Amino acid sequence: MGEGVLAVPFGQRVPFAARDAGFFCEEVPAESIALAAGTPTFVYSASAIRERYHRLTSALKDCPVRVHYSMKANGNRAVITLLRELGSGIDVVSGGELAKALRAGFGAHDIVQGGVGKTATELREAVQVGVKLINVESLEELVLLNAIAGEMGAVASVGLRVNPEVTVTNPHAYIATGAKGHKFGIPHVSALAVARDAIAMQHVNLCALDMHVGSQLSTMEPYRDGLNRLKELTLQVRSAGATIKYIDIGGGLPVVYQAGDAEPDLAGYADLVGKVIRELGVELIVEPGRFFVGASGVLVTRVLYRKESGGKQYVIVDAGMNDLLRPSHYDSYHQIDAVKPSGKRVTADVVGPVCETGDFLALDREVDDVQPGDLVVLHGAGAYGYVMSSNYNARPRAAEVMVEGHRFAVVTARESYDDMMRLEHEDPNWRDA
Ligand code: LLP
Repeated sequence: MGEGVLAVPFGQRVPFAARDAGFFCEEVPAESIALAAGTPTFVYSASAIRERYHRLTSALKDCPVRVHYSMKANGNRAVITLLRELGSGIDVVSGGELAKALRAGFGAHDIVQGGVGKTATELREAVQVGVKLINVESLEELVLLNAIAGEMGAVASVGLRVNPEVTVTNPHAYIATGAKGHKFGIPHVSALAVARDAIAMQHVNLCALDMHVGSQLSTMEPYRDGLNRLKELTLQVRSAGATIKYIDIGGGLPVVYQAGDAEPDLAGYADLVGKVIRELGVELIVEPGRFFVGASGVLVTRVLYRKESGGKQYVIVDAGMNDLLRPSHYDSYHQIDAVKPSGKRVTADVVGPVCETGDFLALDREVDDVQPGDLVVLHGAGAYGYVMSSNYNARPRAAEVMVEGHRFAVVTARESYDDMMRLEHEDPNWRDA
């Protein structure tokens, strides 16, 4: 039995692997999933998510920590329910995510709310629920939240998201978030003043400091630098009169997308954060997204056509940038395996059906010499895949499938044309201004 290069071992099994009989998602042939659910389809491995949850929580076992899975990475109902059952809390960044989290059974104390542009309605919804923590990102937002909580006769638990202003090396500028001048967080220089304002307010209880240094971080330095700054600030904010109970260090742990990428040094991460957390006597909050789900999902797509143009080979598949935006938006790499490889190789652009030159899944990539009708699998599609998909070109969104051992289930149906047109008014109800 051959195994995919990126297969993550857990026990004797691997979540996604090429075998002699074809490509398997746990113990389910990718072909069976494609026949049952059609293509393109995202497939998530429950065992892989579980294994990665245990891997992180075991590394952090000596640290007082609560994991709040960042559902922006993958908000699939079955995925968030699985993580809730494993003991995870959740990090939400919109009213929609809050509603989905509540529907999936998360309680108020399981929920941390973030987001740089929360609306008054979203803040009101979070106060109504009584979430564990609302991380605010500006003085203006804090003032609004205090007013909203006041109207509701409540006191909101608040964290200040501080821009740690650290330099981060990660694969794309769009996923760096914690450098000076980024739109996220309160600029480090103003954080103490905003904390003093919060302390003086009647309807917020400042109990946390928060940062997020970036995503797909290849080293632990950004965490160390950011944490040192948060530690110093915690001491100052405490002297100003706040009781800081939590330090929230956001997400950012990486996954392996291609040969040369490293799994994160979780022991080093635990040492680093554990030390600061114990010194400060606070509870740690972590918000991993990609780490749990990135390598726990693949995208199964079918080859529609082959063509040659200007000396270049093209593989045209039925998944496009509307299904998986990452390659065109972040130049991201996703390993591509044929479900039944011929063994012959070709260097080609693997592209989708969308009417955009930027609609590609891989450029100049050596892949199996797949032919129309063949299935291929894109690895590393479990995070920021389906959640970033759209209906561009009026393409219905893909289906989502969960596998576990020999079983699989369609956990989100493929959209229908009717689903896409459901909110359109055939007869607009014109009103006079
Ligand atoms: N917490 C906060 C405040 C965040 O902004 C993010 C991600 C996370 C947690 C989770 O980060 P993770 O553990 O997944 O790195 N769409 C991009 C990634 C955007 C990340 C945005 N913030 C991609 O496909 O690479």
